[in-house]
Amino acid sequence: MAQIIAVLGGKGGSGKSTCSIGISLALAEQGKRVLLIDLDEGMRCLDMLLGVSEDLVFDVSDAVAGRELSSCVLNVPEAESLYLLAAPAEKGTLNTKEFVKYLTSLPENHFDNIVLDLPAGSDIELYQALPKSTEFLCICNPNAVSVRDAANIGNLLSKANRRGKLIINRFETYFIRNIMFSNLDDIIDESGLSLIGIVPESESLFFAFLEGKFKITGRAKKAFARIAARLNGQNVPLPKLSKI
Ligand SMILES: Nc1ncnc2c1ncn2[C@@H]1O[C@H](COP(=O)(O)OP(=O)(O)O)[C@@H](O)[C@H]1O
Ligand SMILES: [Mg+2]
Repeated sequence: MAQIIAVLGGKGGSGKSTCSIGISLALAEQGKRVLLIDLDEGMRCLDMLLGVSEDLVFDVSDAVAGRELSSCVLNVPEAESLYLLAAPAEKGTLNTKEFVKYLTSLPENHFDNIVLDLPAGSDIELYQALPKSTEFLCICNPNAVSVRDAANIGNLLSKANRRGKLIINRFETYFIRNIMFSNLDDIIDESGLSLIGIVPESESLFFAFLEGKFKITGRAKKAFARIAARLNGQNVPLPKLSKI
């Protein structure tokens, strides 16, 4: 079965969709065949952010209902081996159990990774339904509210008998040193999750979002490449904080 990577976080705006795209593009660049699924029903955005909304006819609910997957996926021009399944336009269309059953029944050789962009909030039913091997990546910003939220998500994942990892997004060394936390360890300790990566505050990401053209460059690109490599089991050390 493909490795499932669920990108989650309780708060809207922490960067779940941005990180889902960044990680998917990085995995594709490292030679993986990636299926990115937008699960933000009613608020779908990945088709717009990746500039393929004009091609959108069918969404993930059509695939789950039995329509041929190849007619539902959208090819992402930025990466040959990245495919998108858009979210349904209306909330409440997908049934969690049927969705997970569909995911786990996909032929093994179709995709290496399946990245799920989850909506804000927590959904223990979904966490429990997903296979134990799922990598749950909690997106957290370096501020106290977001860190508490990550801790809550971590607790829920433990209740569901699943393990989560932490991505600190919108990182700026200035924040860590002078505003909220005296050092990075405090964030990691408070969240109760183990760190898998740090993504910097990045103009390239901000404008990619505004323009719907995800050509990620610079430090953000390197950050996603490190996370993708770690997801593939490689041991990639964290660079000096000033270099993130
Ligand atoms: N690392 C980052 N650097 C700059 N802007 C970011 C970064 N991550 C997210 N953003 C911005 O934050 C906003 C919310 O991001 P989004 O990915 O939609 O969050 P979510 O999916 O969690 O609601 C967008 O305007 C996006 O461009
Ligand atoms: Mg989102």
